[in-house]
Amino acid sequence: MAKSTNAFTCTACGASHKKWAGRCDACGAWNTIVEEAPLSQGPGRGLGAHKGRAVPLSSLATSEAPPPRHLSGMDELDRVLGGGLVPGSAVLIGGDPGIGKSTLLLQGAAAFARRGLNAVYISGEEASAQVRMRAQRLGLADAPVRLGAETNLRDILTTLDTERPDLAIIDSVQTLWSDQVEAAPGSVAQVRAAAHELVTFAKRKGVAIFLVGHVTKDGQIAGPRVVEHMVDTVIYFEGERGHQFRILRSVKNRFGPADEIGVFEMTGSGLAEVANPSALFLSERGQPVPGSAVFAGIEGTRPVLTEVQALVAPSTLASPRRTVVGLDSGRVSTILAVLEARCGIPFAGLDVFLNVAGGMRVNEPAADLAIAGALLSAREDSALPPEAVLFGEISLSGALRPVAQAENRLKEAQKLGFSQAILPDSQKVEGAGGMSIQRIADLTGFAGEVFGAG
Ligand code: TYD
Ligand code: MG
Repeated sequence: MAKSTNAFTCTACGASHKKWAGRCDACGAWNTIVEEAPLSQGPGRGLGAHKGRAVPLSSLATSEAPPPRHLSGMDELDRVLGGGLVPGSAVLIGGDPGIGKSTLLLQGAAAFARRGLNAVYISGEEASAQVRMRAQRLGLADAPVRLGAETNLRDILTTLDTERPDLAIIDSVQTLWSDQVEAAPGSVAQVRAAAHELVTFAKRKGVAIFLVGHVTKDGQIAGPRVVEHMVDTVIYFEGERGHQFRILRSVKNRFGPADEIGVFEMTGSGLAEVANPSALFLSERGQPVPGSAVFAGIEGTRPVLTEVQALVAPSTLASPRRTVVGLDSGRVSTILAVLEARCGIPFAGLDVFLNVAGGMRVNEPAADLAIAGALLSAREDSALPPEAVLFGEISLSGALRPVAQAENRLKEAQKLGFSQAILPDSQKVEGAGGMSIQRIADLTGFAGEVFGAG
């Protein structure tokens, strides 16, 4: 049988290449091609020559109770994990360098340890003394967490196998190296090998593992992307530089809902939990100003109110600026196009700046109406009623579509002192709980009724 020559693979798109190249022909990415050992092809491949071992199969019905989850007592962390830590699970925490991953996991490890779990924290980035100093600063010096500073994968696995902790934190996966892989630490091959070994170990021995992974803006470091498929849970720790708020967001979770968020504030003595994020994100609201719209959103299982802010100004540029922070810019372009094409309200010749207050990110299509509201309010220089929240999805025809969980959104709005909601005509609401509701059929109606525009 001919020997396979496809020994080089692009780590970005998976294309096979016969030889190494700086740039992948298939997807155009640079420095993503790595050499892979070809699959060994013994004799007897082909039909009828099964050499494997039969795997025992079982039925779907089970009498075993699910394993108990461990709670850290940090509600924001427990919620994002899907209701506590599942024994033997592998969790990846990604985020920009300096965002607070090590701080969060040290606090988390201490919280679990204080509740009786055997927790081990292995740092490949800092010496034990540095971690100890941080623990002191965080007031965690007395927590029974055991520290290690190591980057050799084999030594780490041996240590974990001897100690058999309930929980191990590996900070970070990019610093690990295995002597069985000929590549530098941080390379795709090393990161993939290390993650694979650790995840396999976690499953086999019932040790829950947290892997820290740095992501860079340009995605140069081969990293967490490869690992995301291997682990049970992927969590991102996000925040804007210059804001003290940090948002922990699950993007994948085999043991709970994805898109769940936990909100923290970075203080001088570590991360503080924020139990009522709506109040926090709206705290800077004062007098009603044009360009501000309050969106009643749902993040995971929890309603969260956020303020969408817009500024519209005459542009001197041939192609005016569209600066969007905290929202999907494609979504914003669509809404601008719908406003122009369906409602006859052009934004040509105008710079548009859009932003979600407090450094929050909003991904829900339900935010469409609030985005349109902020844009129209800024353009018409007319403030929305300060006691109103908005939600609703906008279709390309300009019609408004209903969204899920209207009652929860309204309840949260009412709790925070709002008395009015602007929402799609087609939205079913069972019990508005005393909120006055203004129903809108389409975007043209919205512009006309609320702003007298169009
Ligand atoms: P760190 O957890 O080291 O980030 P990462 O592991 O994601 O790289 O956090 C680093 C930043 O957090 C650093 O800029 C200082 C800040 N910080 C505080 O503001 N307060 C604190 O109590 C601690 C420990 C860190
Ligand atoms: Mg760190």
